[in-house]
Amino acid sequence: MRALLLVVLGLAVGAMGATFALSALRQGTPFHSGVMAVMQHHMGVLRGNVRAKQCDAKGSADHLSRMRETAGDIRQAFPDMEPAFFQADDGLLKALDGAVAAAPGTCEALVAALKPVGDACQSCHQQFR
Ligand code: HEC
Repeated sequence: MRALLLVVLGLAVGAMGATFALSALRQGTPFHSGVMAVMQHHMGVLRGNVRAKQCDAKGSADHLSRMRETAGDIRQAFPDMEPAFFQADDGLLKALDGAVAAAPGTCEALVAALKPVGDACQSCHQQFR
């Protein structure tokens, strides 16, 4: 009898857990919003660093490469878009490759490196957002 009660209790707890997990999944952030939000975060930190005049090379390199990695997920996050979208995506990847390669060590260099990146974000948003 006691064993049976424990089994029933176990099942009930399991069912509750499954319900929580399902509702957490349903409320989950969609992947495409997550990709954009992560890029926005790194862009925001870098622009904040420029405003604060604190543009150390290491910090800039970290944020730029995180942005470049995340941009690499845009294709998977937006699978069913038209060719022009993927061209805009290529534009961003190219701009980010350039910014990472530039390895900006001053605020002036960081501003110059971010310019084509910001333009690439904007140009896609104008068409597709
Ligand atoms: C190739 C196209 C493209 C590029 C490049 C692009 N975006 Fe987006 N972005 C979109 C689209 C499409 C949406 C709208 C997604 C939606 O709401 O379904 C969006 C939405 C966003 C959002 C709102 C996300 C949300 O759902 O709350 C932010 C923030 C954002 N982008 C930041 C950026 C930043 C920063 C960059 C550049 C580093 C960038 N995006 C580059 C296509 C692009």
